[in-house]
Order: sequence, then structure tokens, then C-alpha cells
Amino acid sequence: MIVTPLVGKQRESVQLATARLNIWDGSVRSSKTICSLLKWMKFVREAPSGPLLMVGKTERTLKRNIIDPMVEMLGEARCKFVAGRGELHLLGRLIYVVGAYNEGSEDKIRGLSLVGAYVDEVSTIPESFFVMLLTRLSIPGAQLFGTTNPDGPQHWLKTGYLDRAALHLDIHGQLHRDVSDEPLNLHRFSFQLSDNPNLTAQYVADVSSEFTGLWYRRLILGEWCLAEGVVYESWDPARHVVQELPQITRWLAIAMDYGTTNPFHAVTLGLGVDGRLYVGHEWRWDSKKQRGSLTDAEYSERLRAWVTSLGITPEYTIVDPSAASFRVQLHRDQWTSTMADNEVIDGIRQVASLFATGRLLVHAGCKELIREIPGYAWDPEASEKKGEDKPIKLNDHGVDALRYAVRTTRNMWSGQLAPPSKAA
Ligand SMILES: Nc1ncnc2c1ncn2[C@@H]1O[C@H](COP(=O)(O)OP(=O)(O)OP(=O)(O)O)[C@@H](O)[C@H]1O
Ligand SMILES: [Mg+2]
Repeated sequence: MIVTPLVGKQRESVQLATARLNIWDGSVRSSKTICSLLKWMKFVREAPSGPLLMVGKTERTLKRNIIDPMVEMLGEARCKFVAGRGELHLLGRLIYVVGAYNEGSEDKIRGLSLVGAYVDEVSTIPESFFVMLLTRLSIPGAQLFGTTNPDGPQHWLKTGYLDRAALHLDIHGQLHRDVSDEPLNLHRFSFQLSDNPNLTAQYVADVSSEFTGLWYRRLILGEWCLAEGVVYESWDPARHVVQELPQITRWLAIAMDYGTTNPFHAVTLGLGVDGRLYVGHEWRWDSKKQRGSLTDAEYSERLRAWVTSLGITPEYTIVDPSAASFRVQLHRDQWTSTMADNEVIDGIRQVASLFATGRLLVHAGCKELIREIPGYAWDPEASEKKGEDKPIKLNDHGVDALRYAVRTTRNMWSGQLAPPSKAA
């Protein structure tokens, strides 16, 4: 990778990254990582002697986001990662590399005295780790450099740190000093896509169209905003509901959200010849509305009969992770199942992005799913009080089954879809 000279806000941010803590926040792809890394490399070359640390949510994400691009920029002679040991040799200095994925991760840095730290995606690491890290930066002249995408307005990083920056270069390029009553020795640089001149207009248009609703506001506009309102903002029955399915080249999966007192909901997901994903069919059992509860054996039998009646053979059967007993039943019935990937926010984001780009459509026969989607909403209380992004757990059975189907099969359809299409 050839790094072109920094311009505008990029340059200004690197020059102003002189505080004890220096954090770049804002839109995706806006060059936060490149700017912060150039500053970090300069720091590593010039810093007083003492241990240095690089942190990511996991060692693997850090390697992918940060270390691989640095190796590309500098070559193996100047940047070499020894994965098993968690050590990076950068510009003649040894750097410890750690993943901070849970509350216990802070033990990895307890007792260290550091002169410098680089943190990738600060908002994704536990607050306890960040607090411990700050106490470890104890050598005179110690500095921290980090990047983050925006999260909710009550996120610990926003309220505890970014809002208290002594200097803030805002999203419009305005410089503010000491806006807080209790300023920290922290400089904050807020970026948006237009701060990165290395992106083509087409690329900016494409990534902007892939994010919708909450993620558009956070990851494109760079706002630290609440998760509120409907989850699937771009959902429009006129655009997303089809009366006829095209030829389906692969029936990827049948995915189910298990319920006994709550409804049981299953959907099929197929890949059309037109490079779009289709929810082809749904099966639902609502013990409250229908004729009582079914046993696991009865569910298995009825689902089998249903799939047979459709005349299709989905490649995977995906079952919600909480339904262990039901998976045992399927196994007994010689029906191989896969546990659904239940990363809720990542799954929702994927579904939202597919709706926004017109690459996920639903057959009109899936009436219950179509009824649920427009009412599926964020829980403003969780967002406001706890800083957590969570959908309201109400009428979410079809949408959960849909999320499991899309998220768990992502390796089967990614790279196979048609280009994004825009709303009319
Ligand atoms: N000075 C530069 N020279 C060459 N390419 C650059 C430069 N600055 C940015 N880029 C390009 O822009 C892309 C996005 O930059 P970068 O990864 O720093 O963004 P980011 O804000 O960290 O994004 P994300 O939020 O997705 O992590 C890079 O992959 C790189 O290709
Ligand atoms: Mg980055």
C-alpha cells in the first residue's frame, strides 16, 4: 500500500495528537486508522524507552485491521509480528499485542508500566480494561492513540472521555478547546468520509447505501446517537415483497426461532438467479392462537412434512441456540441441524444492509414475518439508561428466524450478490 501525503484534517489531527490521550472517532473508512497509525509509528520511533502496547478487541482483529496494513506499508524487515508470542517488532522496538475482549482481559496488562499504547476500535473493549490501561501509562511522556466508530450517546467512552476532551477538532473541521468543565488531557478528532480524499465518489456512494437507519447515522454521519425507532428503516413492502419467486439457484437454509409458549417460526432462505436473497416460505405455530402446544417430536414431524410439501431441500437447518432440547429431537429424527449465529447486532446490521440495498426480498406468502418487520423496534430505554443497543423483545419471532438465516449463511452468499440497488 502506498500512503499518499496527508491533507486537511488528516494532517491537522496528526499535528495536534500531542495529548496524553488522542482519539480519532467518526465514520467508517474516513482514514482514522491511517492517520493514527502514522502518528503511532512516529511516536514509536521517537518515544522514550519503555514498554509499548497495541490493543484490539482480539489479537486476530488487531492483526487484520492494523498489523497487516502496517506490514504492507513498511515491509517485514521493519514490521514483523510473532503471533504465538503476541509480540510485534516495529521499527526496532518490541511491542506487546493483546486482545481485550472481556472483563478478565485487564489481567493481561496488570503490573506493566507503559510508555505508549495504540488501541484499535476503543469503544469495543471493556471499560475496565481501558481504565486499567490508563493507570499503566505511567512513564513520563506516555501517550495513547486510538480510533473508534461511534456508538450510543451513553457509551462510557463518549460520556467519560470524549465529551471531556481538552481539544476537539469536530466533524466540520472546527477546533474547540476546553468545552468541558472537567477537561481531560485528551485530544479528539472527529472524522467523516469526506476527510479521506483517497476514496472514489463511487465508493463513497456504495458504502453510504449499504448502511441504513442507526448505522447510517453512526457509521456514515459519525453521530453518537441512540438506538431508537424502527430497526429496519428501509423496509418498504412495495420494494421488498414479491408475489413470485424467481428461479432459486440454491435453497441455503431453513432457519427457526423455537418457541413453546411463544410462537415457533421457521423461514426458508434461497439465493435467486438474480443475485438476491429470498425468504421463500414461512411456517409458524402459535400455541396461544392455534390448538395448544406441540411437543418437540411433533414440531419435528410437522416441519418435516412442511419442507417436504414445499418440494425443496434446504442445505442447512439452522436452529436458535437456546433450543437445545429441540436440536436433540432433530438429531433423533436423523435431521442434522446447525446452531444459529446469535450475534444480534451484527445480524441485524447485515439484514438491514441487505434490505437497504434491495438484495433481500420476501415472498408475499410470509404474512407473519411481513407483519412483524415494520413493528420491530429498538428499545430506547436500554439505549438511554444502559448505553446498550437492543431491540424490544416483542413480536420478534419471524425477524429472529430471518436474522439467524441471513447471518448464519453469510459465507454462502457473500460475494455472490448483485450490486446494490437503490430505493425508487
Ligand atoms: N493517506 C492515504 N494514502 C493511501 N490510502 C489511504 C490514505 N488514507 C486513507 N487511505 C485509504 O482509505 C481507507 C480507509 O482508511 P482507514 O482504514 O484509515 O479508515 P478508518 O476511518 O480507520 O475506517 P474504519 O472505521 O472502517 O476502520 C484505507 O483502506 C486506505 O485504503
Ligand atoms: Mg479503522
